[in-house]
Amino acid sequence: MKYQHDFTVVDNERQTHDFVVLTLQASQILPEILPGQFAEVLAPHPQAYLRRPLSIHDVDYEKKQIKLLIQEVGKGTESLTKLEIGNRVNMIYPLGKGYDLPDSKRVLLVGGGCGVAPLLYLGRYLKKNGIMPRFLIGTRTKSALVRLDAYRELGDVMVTTEDGSYGTKGFVINHPVMRTQQPDFDWIYTCGPEAMMRILAKYATNHQLTCQVSLENHMACGIGACLCCVTNTRDGHKCTCTDGPVFDSKYLLW
Ligand code: FES
Repeated sequence: MKYQHDFTVVDNERQTHDFVVLTLQASQILPEILPGQFAEVLAPHPQAYLRRPLSIHDVDYEKKQIKLLIQEVGKGTESLTKLEIGNRVNMIYPLGKGYDLPDSKRVLLVGGGCGVAPLLYLGRYLKKNGIMPRFLIGTRTKSALVRLDAYRELGDVMVTTEDGSYGTKGFVINHPVMRTQQPDFDWIYTCGPEAMMRILAKYATNHQLTCQVSLENHMACGIGACLCCVTNTRDGHKCTCTDGPVFDSKYLLW
């Protein structure tokens, strides 16, 4: 079931030069939102004709608040990052299929770039279900890291930076946790650049692990109508917006 509601901006926290966290207040009780689901957000820019698909970054049911982690990549997202307290935002949500609960307590959540967005709420959801999340976060450089403290409130956080300015130097796959013969996790949850997720999917296959990936394909309608987001799977073409964005990596023809 999806809803269309207006939310009020109650906080706008800049994280880095291009990332902002918006806290949005609902006036109604929030529906159940699964980690990995997303919202189609109406951007307040005259040339932003299409809604922007954005991962749900966090949910507080008691306060009736949703957080979005927004990266400025164009006029639409830039207009969202400039919203001020008291402004209104219209969203259609929750959309898509989210991450599944694992059949093991040994999980690793791996995010790169803007792909860290859904992993915070996933970590909260896992913890609520008795599973301690561990995060592995990869970025280009230290100044691109966002909200490490929020992730640390939920579990262990490991970091890689390409330039070595923080954590382990290199890519997520270079981190020691990924380089042991016997991984100490059974499930990988990931979101981020496709190249990173393809490597993790291959790693999972080689080590007989489950790997759930959240695809960041281009989207327009977000409801399965325009077919601009299809991805190739073992069952043919599937819409990322309605059949995903989360898929088991074994299901994808990568
Ligand atoms: Fe239109 Fe998926 S975004 S079908």
